[in-house]
Amino acid sequence: MSHTHVAGAIHADVSVSGPGWLRRPTDVNALVDGLWSSGVRRRPDGELEVAGVPVTALAAEVGTPAYVFDEADLRERARGFAEAFAGWRVYYAGKSFLSKDVARWVVEEGLYLDVCTGGELAVALAAGIDPARIGFHGNNKSLAELQAALEAGVGRIIVDSFIEIARLAELAAARGVQAPVLVRVTAGVEAHTHEYIATAHEDQKFGFSIVTGDAMRAVEECLGAPGIDLRGIHSHIGSQIFETAGFEVAVRRTIGLLAAIAERTGQILPELDLGGGFGIAYTTLDDPRPAAELAEHLNAMVEAECRSTGLPRPELSIEPGRAISGPAALMLYEVGTVKPVVLAGGGVRTYVSVDGGMSDNIRTALYAAEYSATVANRASDAAPVLCRVVGKHCESGDIVVRDEFLPGDIAPGDLIAVPGAGAYARSMASNYNHVPRPPVVAVADGRWRTLLRRETVDDLLALDMG
Ligand SMILES: Cc1ncc(COP(=O)(O)O)c(C=O)c1O
Repeated sequence: MSHTHVAGAIHADVSVSGPGWLRRPTDVNALVDGLWSSGVRRRPDGELEVAGVPVTALAAEVGTPAYVFDEADLRERARGFAEAFAGWRVYYAGKSFLSKDVARWVVEEGLYLDVCTGGELAVALAAGIDPARIGFHGNNKSLAELQAALEAGVGRIIVDSFIEIARLAELAAARGVQAPVLVRVTAGVEAHTHEYIATAHEDQKFGFSIVTGDAMRAVEECLGAPGIDLRGIHSHIGSQIFETAGFEVAVRRTIGLLAAIAERTGQILPELDLGGGFGIAYTTLDDPRPAAELAEHLNAMVEAECRSTGLPRPELSIEPGRAISGPAALMLYEVGTVKPVVLAGGGVRTYVSVDGGMSDNIRTALYAAEYSATVANRASDAAPVLCRVVGKHCESGDIVVRDEFLPGDIAPGDLIAVPGAGAYARSMASNYNHVPRPPVVAVADGRWRTLLRRETVDDLLALDMG
C-alpha cells in the first residue's frame, strides 16, 4: 500500500516490507553477495572484519565515522580492468576517490590516472605519478590549471569548449610546446541512469555536440592550432551504467565521427576514449557485468564499427572510477539514537541515526542513490525490521540508507557498515553543519593505516579569520 505525504515521496512509503525490490532477509546477519569487498567477512563471533581487522578494533583506534578501504580489493579491481582491457589505456577516474596512496596503487596495477581539477592534478603529482600517464578533464579549467597541466607535461588534456581550445593553443604556443589533446564530444546518448549523472545527452554542460557540427568544428580548430597535437576524441555517456546498449550507440557515433573527420580533413585521428560509467552493486537491485565481459562487448563493437567505416582500429581508452574504488570501501558509523516512527498507514519505520550523514555521503540526498547496510559489531537473533539509516545533520533529507532491514534489537553503540562507500563519498564530502570530514583508512593483511586523517574542529577554525 502506498500513501502520499505532504513532506514528499521519501515519507510516503508506509509498507513495513519496504519498497518492492527490497528482500526481507531470512538471515539478517548474512552479507549479500557482490556488495562487499573481498576481504569483508563475518567472524565466528558475529563481528565484521576487513582484511583480517575486526571493525570494533578499527572503531576503537580510528573512531567513527570512517571510510575503510580494502587495499587488496581495490588493487584486484584495478588489475582486473587492466587485464580485461589489455591493449587499452585504462584511466582510473580519480574523482571517485583520490589520495596519494590510491594514485600509486592503481598505477602500480598498470592503470593511468584521470584528474579533473588542479587539486586532483596536484595529488597525482605529489604521489609521484608519471605525468605522461595522466589525463586532465574539466569543462572549465582555469588558465592556472591549464598552465599547470602544460608545465607538468600531462599525457592528455581533454578540451571541452571553443574558448578552452583557444586558451590552450595560446598557452602551449607561448611555452613552445604542443599540448596532446582529445576533444570531448557528446554522442547524444542518455545512459540509463539518474538524470543528474547522465552526461552525454545534448542539454548539458559537457562536450561538443556531434549532431550540431560543433564536434567537427572543434576538431578543425585543434588541427589548425600549432600549439595543439590533436590525438583523438573522447566520449563519456554517464554513470552507474549496466546496459552496454548506450556504449554501442556511443561507439557507433564516435567512430562515425572519426570517419567523417578523416573524410573531411584527410586525417585519421589515432585515439578514442570511451569514458567511464561502469556500474557497481549498491543493493540487490544492481547487477554489474564483470570487466572481462565489458571488454569483450566493447572490443566487438569497435571491431564492427571499424569494419563498416573502413577505419583502422583506434588506440582505445576507458576511465572507470566507481567500478574500481566503490566496492573497495565500506563506511563505518556508530549508532547514536534509534527511533521507531509510526507511519500514516500504521506501519513502523525505525530511524537509526548515525554519527555522520550527508556530509560524508551526499549521494543518497543528491541522486536518490540506494545503499545497503548491516550491523557490523555483532550478529543478532532479533527479527529484521525496516529501517532508515539517517545522519546527524539539520536536514530531513539527510539519509544514508533509505531502506534496509536491520535487526530489531539495534541499539545505540552498535556499529553500522555501509558497502560501496569507496566512490563519490569522501570525494564529495563537505563540512555541512561544521562536521569535520572522517578519515580514510586502508586495511591490508591484518594491518591498517591512515590514507587521509580525520579533520578536526581546529582544522575548521583555522579557516575562520574572524
Ligand atoms: C569524463 C569522465 N570519465 C570518467 C568518469 C568516471 O565515472 P565512473 O566513476 O562512473 O566510472 C566520469 C564521472 O563523472 C567522467 O565524467
